[in-house]
Amino acid sequence: CNLSITGRALNSWFVFFCSSWWAGVQMGPPDPILGVTEAFKRDTNPKKMNLGVGAYRDDQGKPFVLTCVRKAEALIASKQLDKEYLPIGGLGEFNKSCAQLALGADNEVLKSGRSITVQTISGTGSLRIGGNYLARFHSGPLDVYLPKPSWGNHTPIFRDAGMQLKAYRYYDPSTCGFDFKGALEDISKIPEKSVILLHACAHNPTGVDPRPEQWKEIADIVKKRNLLVFFDMAYQGFASGDIDRDAWAVRHFIEQGNNILLSQSFAKNMGLYGERVGGFTVVCSDAEEAKRVESQLKILIRPIYSNPPVNGARIASTILNTPDLRSVWLEEVHGMANRIIKMREQLVAGLKKQGSSHNWQHVIDQIGMFCFTGLKPEQVERLTKEFSVYMTKDGRISMAGVSSGNVGYLAEAIHAVTK
Ligand SMILES: Cc1ncc(COP(=O)(O)O)c(C=O)c1O
Ligand SMILES: *[C@@H]1O[C@H](CO)[C@@H](O)[C@H](O)[C@H]1NC(C)=O
Repeated sequence: CNLSITGRALNSWFVFFCSSWWAGVQMGPPDPILGVTEAFKRDTNPKKMNLGVGAYRDDQGKPFVLTCVRKAEALIASKQLDKEYLPIGGLGEFNKSCAQLALGADNEVLKSGRSITVQTISGTGSLRIGGNYLARFHSGPLDVYLPKPSWGNHTPIFRDAGMQLKAYRYYDPSTCGFDFKGALEDISKIPEKSVILLHACAHNPTGVDPRPEQWKEIADIVKKRNLLVFFDMAYQGFASGDIDRDAWAVRHFIEQGNNILLSQSFAKNMGLYGERVGGFTVVCSDAEEAKRVESQLKILIRPIYSNPPVNGARIASTILNTPDLRSVWLEEVHGMANRIIKMREQLVAGLKKQGSSHNWQHVIDQIGMFCFTGLKPEQVERLTKEFSVYMTKDGRISMAGVSSGNVGYLAEAIHAVTK
């Protein structure tokens, strides 16, 4: 926002002269990601493609409800459960299995009880509770260092929670890959005890993740600088198709003695977008500290939304705790990740077939739901105007919106604006 005057002050000035309470409320800009969907809906071109929002689609381009979810729902319905309030921290069997999924069931942290996990309103709610918790209790600088670039919502989430935003280098536009050197240089200069946010896997928006050896070096520097690590894990399973492999960095940092904060979302890996299921975890020094932190998380949550919704947490915990459903889920996560990988390959093959002379290898090398194409804003604009291909201005496309049926058209369109 470039107004030097706050919304409240501006409004009061107008209200003084006009009769309406809200005369001075300015029209805000549309959300950069959800605004793309609104423009897409208005387009009447039958070939239109929405590659803006990160929601998985099947190969027919339809929203995908996982079989394990349908089965869990049937099982839950058959039990005729009540609709009572959950506790402030959420469903106990959910928060337990949520933490186990991230940390690994045999993790020493869980065995010793030195962590606390609360159920949250998906990943966004988890990050926000984390932001509020930091603003109230963090003893170091109230600065959160984000990768450059990061998910667009990170900035307002932490800013509205009362934190200040800083950045470290992450993406190298010249290689469309990870700027390892730049990241290490910047991280090594972050003032001690600051907060650093790391994407656990399938970095959004770039699709670029550090390799395990690189993660190890980042973990060393972070430990040396005594930084508080906040992991955002919104895509566990989506990067490699393997939930344990995707949690590797989180587990490694903990093993190295970092008492991290962790945000988890089940929107993508279980396709539970609208159910709003997530978790926020604080790894503490011991069980007694975890109890104190838990008490304060509850005090934070209670006046915001009192307690989280029950339905999605029941679905997720039924899947995680019913062996048959869990194995169906693992296959389905694998299937979703594989379909995305296949689309990356077909897009690059399509571009070659069109005769594109550019190197598109990064489209294949990048990981997870998104591809940072490297397209310039003018090219993005042409794609939207001339081809009805919708995406964010930074050139990010959601690979999950690409299917066998439209990948050829996408290749044709991208070639047309890049030749
Ligand atoms: C990096 C990242 N973090 C968190 C989220 C949170 O999503 P949700 O609130 O739907 O779980 C997203 C979703 O796009 C994301 O990309
Ligand atoms: C889950 O919540 C319950 C009750 O709110 C709490 O006793 C338990 O410690 C939590 N579990 C984890 C793993 O944090």
